[in-house]
Amino acid sequence: MSPTAELAVIGGSGLYALLDGATEHVIDTPYGPPSDAVTIAEVAGRRLAFLPRHGRDHRHPPHQIPYRANLWALRSLGVRQVLAPCAVGGLRPELGPGTFVVPDQLIDRTSGRAQTYYDRGAVHVSFADPYCPVGRRTLLAAGAQRGVPTVDGGTVVVVEGPRFSTRAESRWFTAIGGTVVNMTGHPEAVLARELALCYSSIALVTDHDVGVPGGGSVTQEEVFRVFGENTARLRELLFTAVAQLPADRDCACGATLDDIRLPFALP
Ligand code: ADE
Repeated sequence: MSPTAELAVIGGSGLYALLDGATEHVIDTPYGPPSDAVTIAEVAGRRLAFLPRHGRDHRHPPHQIPYRANLWALRSLGVRQVLAPCAVGGLRPELGPGTFVVPDQLIDRTSGRAQTYYDRGAVHVSFADPYCPVGRRTLLAAGAQRGVPTVDGGTVVVVEGPRFSTRAESRWFTAIGGTVVNMTGHPEAVLARELALCYSSIALVTDHDVGVPGGGSVTQEEVFRVFGENTARLRELLFTAVAQLPADRDCACGATLDDIRLPFALP
């Protein structure tokens, strides 16, 4: 029997395994293999898939993650709701390391990444609100329930990387309305939307980005260390959210492609 799952978590830097007693599945897609094998286990009565965005050995840097294969693979398993934890730098003094943010907007500053499935035909999805409102609400409620303070809303500036930003870039990201900065939020969010999936993100601040007054040079060591220190809290929050995500979707995400003629069938 083919493996199935309803929900998925795509793990970020420092979150390479999530599920106990999981089965492991190697999946192929028209876009090549995903970042790693997908593991699946039952959590709170729901079938949950886990995929480490960078691969379990962190072999894929942010600009080379097979984003299209990842979302396609999850959809082909039956996944319709995705929770996406990630490491971010804080662009505001009040957002220090260890803070969780549930963003509601993003600004794309990447370049050269494959960011659509629809290279032919006329498929233009709405992306005004890039994150699923139900997923966001559920993550915020899970944080409150677990005593993990979570900031409601914020704009993720997604940079190409793999380098960190200059001071001038960082100050500019704050000036244009950025709340946090990372390297993986795009095109993951838009590809999820193009497959009519619900997608919401829980961003863990690992550092003050370099343009924040008093902020020093960001280091990879700092990002990984702070993420590692917070994985237990993150896991609790994610499992609480998984238990509470409604099984039936009533948000607009699932209807994204309803009136659009697709050039090919989705899995
Ligand atoms: N991920 C974590 N911290 C970051 C930062 N300061 N800039 C870009 N990506 C990050």
